[in-house]
Amino acid sequence: MKTILEYIGNTPLIKVEEENDSSIFAKMEGFNPGGSIKDRIALNMIRNAEKEGIIKKGDTLIEPTSGNTGIGLAMVGAMLGYKVKVIMPDTTSVEKIKMIKAFGGEVILVENLRYKKFAIEDARAMAKNGAGLYFLNQYENMNNPYTHYKSTAEEILNQLEGEQLDYFVAGMGTGGTITGIGKKLKEKFPTIKIIGVQPARDERIEGLRSIKDGFVPPIMDVDLIDEIYDIEESKALETKDDLAKKGILVGPSSGAAMYICREICKNNRRVNIITIFPDRGERYI
Ligand SMILES: Cc1ncc(COP(=O)(O)O)c(C=O)c1O
Repeated sequence: MKTILEYIGNTPLIKVEEENDSSIFAKMEGFNPGGSIKDRIALNMIRNAEKEGIIKKGDTLIEPTSGNTGIGLAMVGAMLGYKVKVIMPDTTSVEKIKMIKAFGGEVILVENLRYKKFAIEDARAMAKNGAGLYFLNQYENMNNPYTHYKSTAEEILNQLEGEQLDYFVAGMGTGGTITGIGKKLKEKFPTIKIIGVQPARDERIEGLRSIKDGFVPPIMDVDLIDEIYDIEESKALETKDDLAKKGILVGPSSGAAMYICREICKNNRRVNIITIFPDRGERYI
């Protein structure tokens, strides 16, 4: 019999809609046991740090996260014997905070702007000062994009049933998703366009951040990205609500990616677009 951790990954790939003879496909990452794509990197970052002898059972992991990585780490940590402390912006949804606590994690809330500017340095300082406190750092840890290159993208290629791809659209947070999946898809479909989605100036879409704020995560391969779209929160939320009316309950960052997929559909004929729906909608109600 499998453990819960063995059900991380192998999520469904669905056809969301067809328009203008074009199709939009989405990888449904909310089907992971912790409810988001971040379960994958949480497990892999922990497993690799164990392999390298950096952490051992009983240690405490500290991580700045908009929530989903915290949920993933708290879930995997609960299973494997790690305590988890997460630094999160105070704008994070209540459901995410409660989930982390339910898994036994500790939540440190900081003001949103401070989070954007200083959370990584704060975590680094805490890990430096605290005995048994380790910072896996999803923004700099190459296991983050590598997980998507190796597993998420491989799953997509196996699930395509022979379809060719013209566009890959992904929201950008740490950049792990767009970098890892984008790289593998470009190897398979050299003419594919890799499209990033980020919040417009002063807009907030949970899980996403704008590189225009001045921070480009070290793991993000910006050269791989053909175009980056800025999107307003209202459009992301409207699209998320519209998806729910069609039976697909996902989070705001899925709405943001879907909005851009529909824009690409409007301006092109006969294209296949793939995107990622990073998490489930219940955590934003
Ligand atoms: C809901 C949600 N969508 C999208 C992303 C972006 O993914 P990545 O960090 O791989 O760029 C995140 C990251 O935290 C997220 O929580």
